[in-house]
Formats: sequence, structure tokens, C-alpha cells
Amino acid sequence: MFANRIERLKPSLVREILAAAQAPGVISFAGGLPAAETLFQPQLDQWQAPSHIWQYGPSEGEADLRELVAARAKAMGLDCRPEQVLILNGSQQGIDLVAKLWVDEGTRILCESPTYLAALQVFELFGAQFITGEQDAIGLTPAAIAENEARFAYLIPTFQNPTGACYGLPQRQVLAEALDAKGMPVFEDDPYRDLAFDGVAPAPLVSHLKSARWVYQGSFSKTLAPGLRLGYLIAHPDLIVPLTRLKQAADLHSNRLSQAIVAEVLRSGQLDEHVAHILPSYRAKRDAMHAALSQHLADRASWIKPAGGLFFWLHLHRQQDTLALMQQGLAQNLAVMPGVPFYPNGKGASALRLNFSHSSIGQIEEGVRRLAGLLR
Ligand SMILES: Cc1ncc(COP(=O)(O)O)c(C=O)c1O
Repeated sequence: MFANRIERLKPSLVREILAAAQAPGVISFAGGLPAAETLFQPQLDQWQAPSHIWQYGPSEGEADLRELVAARAKAMGLDCRPEQVLILNGSQQGIDLVAKLWVDEGTRILCESPTYLAALQVFELFGAQFITGEQDAIGLTPAAIAENEARFAYLIPTFQNPTGACYGLPQRQVLAEALDAKGMPVFEDDPYRDLAFDGVAPAPLVSHLKSARWVYQGSFSKTLAPGLRLGYLIAHPDLIVPLTRLKQAADLHSNRLSQAIVAEVLRSGQLDEHVAHILPSYRAKRDAMHAALSQHLADRASWIKPAGGLFFWLHLHRQQDTLALMQQGLAQNLAVMPGVPFYPNGKGASALRLNFSHSSIGQIEEGVRRLAGLLR
């Protein structure tokens, strides 16, 4: 009835937990959702949607938005031309396109462990096998790159989902050198860069590459609003043509209304204003979760206070079935994300991912208290 690959199609645990977490009264640390009050409300009173956006548009994306994205990329240290930019219907689409570009059945991907669950899902659907760096380390080591054969490396060097970890500048330089030496292409996924609470994040890892091919992607979901479904990728000149053809084959082009709104928002400086506006609230929530964890869970778990992004990654000292813990949490109106599905090979430490952006500070304190009760 179905293509062979459908046997590898897994349900999304995140979406299932999110559905349960929508129920009234549930404190949700489960998703990666911005808080409702921090969602961007564009100031477009004087703005009229250009009439051409109701027609089919270019697969690459709107020319003005591509220029604005390229200019922002340059400002963060990634030198590129607008022709290297492809506008996406959410950066999740970039994962799908890169999988179609590079993954056959049995293709080996080198990645962090743990890593972004929904990327694993896409890569697995196309038949990928995963080779990982050392489990629970921040990033890969040059040796992991030198010693392994993989078609490409998938990395989230900046405020990683799920761990919140961020590679330092020297680590980025050393890894770029190793990737160049091996000639291993890199796919850098970077949706959290602008949510930096303790200083600006180092330039993208791919900006340090000299010869290896690369795809870099970013998103407007975490800084503006996920409902816009708008992201972008920037690719090595050799890769942008096949990626654009894959985009065309998938959906012709990205939503033109969202593109026009985001172009206006970038042009008028509203994105930077909005990020400056939401950062203090996210930082306060991050600090509140750190304080609550320190008060209630210091003897049962360890974690690193994330310098950016949306998550704490909690290592439980005692081996626990975190899926069962999640179910017990839901019974007490608390949604947490079990760590196991983030490990590419399905085996990992007893860990939980806790989102701090979506709840209020009061809910964060109460939720951590409930979690401590459950663990006890
Ligand atoms: C690492 C990573 N990549 C990609 C995405 C997809 O984001 P979007 O499609 O909303 O741009 C997410 C969303 O949580 C993510 O955490």
C-alpha cells in the first residue's frame, strides 16, 4: 500500500505531548513554544500588502527578503550573497530538503547526541543511520570527524535543542578545520541564535570553513512567531541550485504574505526591537527556572544554566524511565519532555528537557515543585 519508507515514519512524541499539554490547568514545560505574550504583533497600520504577492512567486523567495537575510547573515559573521539564500516555509522544511539532497537508505550522518528530535525523525524517514560524537558532550571532537565516514555532519552549535549548549569560538574553529581536512559537508541548524541572554553568540561554525561544503539555516519562529512558518537557508554556491529545485518540487515557493510581512519587519528594524523587548522576560524565566531547580532538585539532578535558547536539559542522578515519568507528570497536570527520543540511537541517560519560555514565572516555580514531588 505504501512506500517502503513509511515503515520508518514515527509518530511525533512532541506533538502528542503538546496535544495533552493544551488541556486547561496543565503547566507545560514540554514544547519549544514562545510565550503567548511575546508573540510578535507587527505594526502594519500604514502598510499595504503589495498586490503582486497574491500571484505565484519565485521558488528562491522574494528578492528583497533574500537581500535582507543575507545582510543579517553578514552582520553575524557569515559572508554570503543574496543568491545563496533560499526562503523556507519554516526551517523544518530545510531539514526535509537537506535530507532529500543527501540521504539515501543507509546514509551515515554524524551528529550530536542528544540532538533535535524532529530532525532525527526526518533523516530516519529517508533511511539515515547515525554516528554520534561522545554522548552528552558539548558538540563533536575533531577526532570524531577525522575517524568517521559520514555524508555530512548535522550540528546545532548555538543554544542547542535539547541541551541549550553553545560551542565556544575556539571549538568552532577547530571543528571547521577538521571538517575541511576531511572534506565533510556540514548542515548547521541555528534557530535560537538571537535568544542570547548572556552576550552575543559566536559567529556560525560554517563561517570558519575554507573548503568543505555547507548549508546553514535560521528561523523567524522563535524571534517573531512560529505561525508565520518562515525560515531560510543559506548554502554553499554548489548546493543552492539543487536545493532550490527540491524546494520547487516540494511546494513551488514559500508563503508570499509571510515573506512580505517579515521583509517589512526587517526593513523597519522591528525584529531587533522585538528581540530586545522579549529578551529580559526570557532571561527572567531562565533565571527563575534555574533558581527553582536549585531549590528543589539539586540533590536529584544536574544541569547547565543555558546562556540562550529555550531549554534546560536535566540529567537525573538516578536511572529512571522518563516516559513513565512524563505520564505521571500529565496525571498531575505537568507536561515534561522525556530525554530518550533525543538520542539518535534511542539509548541515553535519564534526562528531561524543560522549556522555560512558555510558562509564567509562577507556573515555572509551581511546575518545578511538582516535578520534585514526582521524582521523590
Ligand atoms: C533545532 C531546530 N531546528 C529546526 C526547528 C524548526 O523550526 P521552524 O520550522 O519553526 O523554523 C526547530 C524547532 O523547534 C528546532 O529546535
